[in-house]
Amino acid sequence: MARVFSGVQPTGNLHLGNYLGAIRNFARLQDGNECLYCVVDMHAVTVWQDPEELAKNTREVTAAFLAAGINPDSHIIFNQSRVPQHAEIAWIFNCVARMGWLNRMTQFKEKAGKHRENASVGLYVYPNLMAADILAYKATHVPVGEDQKQHLELARDIAQKFNNDFGTECFPIVEPLILDAAARVMNLRDGRKKMSKSDPSDNSRLNLNDDAETIARKIRKARTDPDPVPDGSAEGGNRESRPEAFNLLEIFAALADKSISDIQRDFGGKQFSDFKQALAELAVEKLGPIGSEMQRYADDPGYIDSVLSGGAERARAIATPIRDEVYDIVGFLRN
Ligand code: TYM
Repeated sequence: MARVFSGVQPTGNLHLGNYLGAIRNFARLQDGNECLYCVVDMHAVTVWQDPEELAKNTREVTAAFLAAGINPDSHIIFNQSRVPQHAEIAWIFNCVARMGWLNRMTQFKEKAGKHRENASVGLYVYPNLMAADILAYKATHVPVGEDQKQHLELARDIAQKFNNDFGTECFPIVEPLILDAAARVMNLRDGRKKMSKSDPSDNSRLNLNDDAETIARKIRKARTDPDPVPDGSAEGGNRESRPEAFNLLEIFAALADKSISDIQRDFGGKQFSDFKQALAELAVEKLGPIGSEMQRYADDPGYIDSVLSGGAERARAIATPIRDEVYDIVGFLRN
């Protein structure tokens, strides 16, 4: 039995990429593992968040976890700021990680853009907090989408350097669980960009709370090229030459839990209009119930809040002795 940890930021617009790349796998890992799933509100505030929206989005991510089938009694769902051990261990990691390591983080470069001097210090040390999230529980297995791989490599480096510096085996080695199918769901309007919460065009993503009509419309409008659905032959092209076509194929395969070649066998050579019709039906069938469950939970914020506070209490019970162990190793007096 492994201890699994992962997190999702409450920054609004949860989308198909979050679901296929992460949340669906969170639910699938429940059997035989001990799972902690965290709404990472402290990560969210590394860029400006409206306080009321942050609270609303924290409940919304929690609702998505529940709607995806995560059981809050057998596993732990909580919001990060309720468990101070994350921040306490993150401070130690700020002193372990090297500037040079953080300077290499592509996500910081993307998010800070041209205005690096203006980015918050929190955004810069974000990966250290992420390492602390995982290691506060000595979790070993971390399901994420492809875009988080570099951060997880940094978490391994931090754990290793801490262990070496202090001559301990305190922290385990973290294993990223990046499942092949849909680890990188692309933007529906531009297959070279990933699907993201922050894209200004809502048509670029399928949101988990889109209704059936909106899902169908966005798929109909999704960009493709004039050629028929790739059939697996060389003439059918590849991901590089036809990014939008392959993205839709991958989304279909992931939603249907089949391989791409299965989908190519059924649709290869056909017109995209037929394929999109089938994809829209499938997406509505798979995402519709999640959206309506999320709405049901949204109508019961009292229940959501009880899940989060109960989860946080159980999370603190695991993280407190680990924080104590870290403090002892470092030489902080506690008693
Ligand atoms: P966040 O909130 O950006 O995304 C949540 C999860 O969704 C995955 N994801 C995608 N997967 C496939 N295709 C996409 N287009 C796509 N977009 C997003 C992300 O990879 C992620 O798994 N830093 C993390 C949150 C975090 C965390 C952690 C994760 C904080 N602490 C500790 C694991 C362990 C983030 O910003 O995810």
